[in-house]
Amino acid sequence: MLFLQISLLAVLLGGGDNEDAFQDQIFRLIGTLSLQNRSWTRSWGSGWLGDLEIKTWNSSSGGFISLRPWSNGNFSNNEMKETEVLLQTFHHELLHLLNKHASEWMLEYPFEVQKTFSCELHSGKVKVDLWRFAYQGSDLLSFKNSSWVPSPEGGTRALQICKTLNKRTVINKITEWRTTKSCPRYLLGLLDAGKADLQKQVKPEAWLSTGPNPSPDHLLLVCHVSGFYPKPISVMWMRGEQAQQGSQLSDILPNADGTWYPQIFLDVEATETSGLSCWVTHSSLEGQDIILYLDPPNSKALIILAVMLPLLLLLTGLAFWLKKRWTHCEPPSTLLPLERFQQPRFSKHT
Ligand SMILES: *[C@@H]1O[C@H](CO)[C@@H](O)[C@H](O)[C@H]1NC(C)=O
Ligand SMILES: *[C@@H]1O[C@H](CO)[C@@H](O)[C@H](O)[C@H]1NC(C)=O
Ligand SMILES: *[C@@H]1O[C@H](CO)[C@@H](O)[C@H](O)[C@H]1NC(C)=O
Ligand SMILES: *[C@@H]1O[C@H](CO)[C@@H](O)[C@H](O)[C@H]1NC(C)=O
Repeated sequence: MLFLQISLLAVLLGGGDNEDAFQDQIFRLIGTLSLQNRSWTRSWGSGWLGDLEIKTWNSSSGGFISLRPWSNGNFSNNEMKETEVLLQTFHHELLHLLNKHASEWMLEYPFEVQKTFSCELHSGKVKVDLWRFAYQGSDLLSFKNSSWVPSPEGGTRALQICKTLNKRTVINKITEWRTTKSCPRYLLGLLDAGKADLQKQVKPEAWLSTGPNPSPDHLLLVCHVSGFYPKPISVMWMRGEQAQQGSQLSDILPNADGTWYPQIFLDVEATETSGLSCWVTHSSLEGQDIILYLDPPNSKALIILAVMLPLLLLLTGLAFWLKKRWTHCEPPSTLLPLERFQQPRFSKHT
């Protein structure tokens, strides 16, 4: 029954071809079932195009929520609705089987089962990776060439499950035939519908900060980069032209708007900060790398001094002139004060 549902789902996804060459992309459907006991289960589901979550499953309604305007690809609302109904049925069927065969399949409550299904566009061809299941986070079985294949990590449990499932030869054949035709059509429709969004380029912003000191005479320098798309990026701490091997890139985390945010750390001796900079290279920058210099404190002070000193002198001069003018009660004259201002005591600074 479960596999009949998979087959039906595949029918809805339909057939298609893959003549439209696009950048390599993968669509993945991921589901997690957490079974506490026979009567208490929680589940999550989502659909991903590469790193981008485009669908999320609402377990209370059983439907998918589109996270992008183009998440349905070129499927009609009816097609999508029917797909959702079938996915929900598939979900319930799987739960039923897991509970029914729990002892036979050596599943010990509480446990977690993950299921994934994907199809990938690679060099103009779509490869379909049929269902894969994991138990407690490690590979259990996969569906290939019309039959269920145990994963080496699955042990006797996987062998046992495959033995049961592989008795359904006709259902398995239909599943294979339909799913291999369906996912490509959805993926290609998706890439076409989402083209503008997927090919957009959003420039990163970058800034520097320091983290908690790793030790008394060391500094932790942090280069933050945020708000860019697509995800691939190169960020490096440099000294002059020399990449700093000690640079450590954090995970690249998603922002709520679909852009990305990594940090790159460098642990340096507090006296060794001169000449350091953070380099950011990203496709949106079109070769104009962002370079943030970590100005050594002395050079900052020098700049401030260079700007402030003449200003200070000017003000002192002005004060001096005003004071003279008031104490001598001189009548307003434009010539005299100017002459005083240009007296020798100031000339050495000009
Ligand atoms: C199943 O697990 C839930 C959550 O832990 C618990 O509230 C419930 O009483 C359990 N039911 C049975 C029959 O053990
Ligand atoms: C999920 O489904 C429930 C029940 O249909 C609905 O009330 C709720 O608004 C849905 N959540 C979202 C985020 O759409
Ligand atoms: C698929 O399985 C059939 C028999 O079930 C076998 O003859 C065939 O060689 C297999 N193909 C691949 C690619 O493994
Ligand atoms: C959806 O797009 C795919 C790939 O471009 C195409 O093969 C298929 O015919 C399209 N389906 C509809 C209903 O337009």
